Amino acid sequence: SKGQDTSPCEWYQKVYKSLCPMSWGKQITWCLMLCVSTAVIGSLQFGYNTGVINAPDEKVKNFIKNVTLMRTGDPMDDSTLTTVWSVTVSIFNVGGMIGSLSVGTLVDKLGRRKAMLLSNILALIGGGLMGLSAVSTSYELIIVGRLVIGAFCGLCTGLTPMYVGEIAPTALRGAFGTLHQLGVVIGILIAQILGLESLLGSQTLWPLLLALTTVPAVLQSIMLIFCSESPRYLLINLNQEEEARQVLTRLRGHSDVEDDIREMKEEAMKMSMEKKVSIPELFRNPAYRQPIIIAIILQLSQQLSGINAVIYYSTEIFRSAGITGPVFATIGVGAVNTLFTVISLFLVERAGRRTLHMIGLAGMTFCTLLMTISLKLVNTTGAQNVTAVSVAESAPVGGTSAISILAILAVFGFVASFEMGPGPIPWFIVAELFAQGPRPAAIAVAGCCNWTASFLVGLLFPKLLKLCDAYVFIIFLILLIIFFVFTYFRVPETKGRTFEDIASGFSKSAGTSDANYTSPEDVVTMPVTPSSEKFQM
Ligand code: GLC
Repeated sequence: SKGQDTSPCEWYQKVYKSLCPMSWGKQITWCLMLCVSTAVIGSLQFGYNTGVINAPDEKVKNFIKNVTLMRTGDPMDDSTLTTVWSVTVSIFNVGGMIGSLSVGTLVDKLGRRKAMLLSNILALIGGGLMGLSAVSTSYELIIVGRLVIGAFCGLCTGLTPMYVGEIAPTALRGAFGTLHQLGVVIGILIAQILGLESLLGSQTLWPLLLALTTVPAVLQSIMLIFCSESPRYLLINLNQEEEARQVLTRLRGHSDVEDDIREMKEEAMKMSMEKKVSIPELFRNPAYRQPIIIAIILQLSQQLSGINAVIYYSTEIFRSAGITGPVFATIGVGAVNTLFTVISLFLVERAGRRTLHMIGLAGMTFCTLLMTISLKLVNTTGAQNVTAVSVAESAPVGGTSAISILAILAVFGFVASFEMGPGPIPWFIVAELFAQGPRPAAIAVAGCCNWTASFLVGLLFPKLLKLCDAYVFIIFLILLIIFFVFTYFRVPETKGRTFEDIASGFSKSAGTSDANYTSPEDVVTMPVTPSSEKFQM
């Protein structure tokens, strides 16, 4: 019947409309796309350098051994090698803590665009040092290079979300913010693929693999010449209203930018009445205390979910699940990671940040449980010799291979859930939770917490795995539940709200404005204030 013919079509249209709202097209101009793509190269760099060290690990370890043998005539013993190697891996995070903490000072002094430009010097130095390590027979150059690259990536994790958040139209801030995470996951995937033995992960080419980060640095520096400074920085920090208006006109593609200008002016006026927001001030001032706690816990929920235990050690996890081609399963992780970040990109302006974060945490909790059970069953039944390829080709499911498949599905589900919310949201929501004044300091604190937590997971996970075996994931499971409960009770929805509106919501709840006191729960359910660019379907 006719009804039956049209209903699937209507259903399709509905899904299509909800995934690709028409209003997006009108708001995305070439200028905006150029600025965002340029900034997102920084995210790609962070992802690439996060993933790059895993594939060529054996080759780099051999290099360290050979250098020691050449220098001293004695081979390096295993425990020294393990120490040197873990320093090489984790010093990246130490650099990240330093870099992320410096973001605030840098952007306040130089602005967003120049800070990005300058940060690329670190990428050139770090990449250069690592690339030269083999020819100068010095593994110390890799270690120093990793530290410098870590500092660069620490800056990227603050600079990109800040700049993107400030230039994006309000209704698309979440989708654009998710592009940072998309850059990260694509960077990880590129590193995983280029790191294959047949590409750059070989005995001779690994220095090139590590040095490759200099190429996007040069590219971003060139592209930055054509990008605009953040209009919020121009107007609110430098008081250059005319310049801000011109940039906004270019970004929005029309000259009707008065609503944005008015909102920024209000923010500038408020900021001029407050003293400069330093890091301690974030914790002292009641208006900032609630959002900074939310920002920190969201960062912790990202890292202490155990994501990097999977990203760093997936090959080992797959191996212990009885899969003999684990590298391919690891690349599968990268692919699932990317796919679900794209899905989140389209959902974040529909479902909202809070909902997606909770869905993601709940999914991760469930998959963590599956992971623990399957790893435990594999260990007790002694599953062996199931190749990733045979799994991919759906080898007959039965006996031990079914458990291996369950383990793979659990890991894929874990990563997919992560990218629905806990991956992208914490990175961009900090810029949303704060107005212009406290934003740089807040991004610095939140970023540093993220890097510290990721450092701790990287450091402790291998030891905990030895100690607790598959039960190690129970620790993450408990933490995931705690983060879910926190998000439910404390995290407000920021979708479609202006910076001004979000900040004043917190001030009210802290009782620091003239308005009546609002409890934190009220902030959570506070109605969305209409804004000029409110999301329309
Ligand atoms: C997030 C995390 C990063 C992790 C990545 C995985 O960006 O900050 O540590 O490796 O997601 O996709």
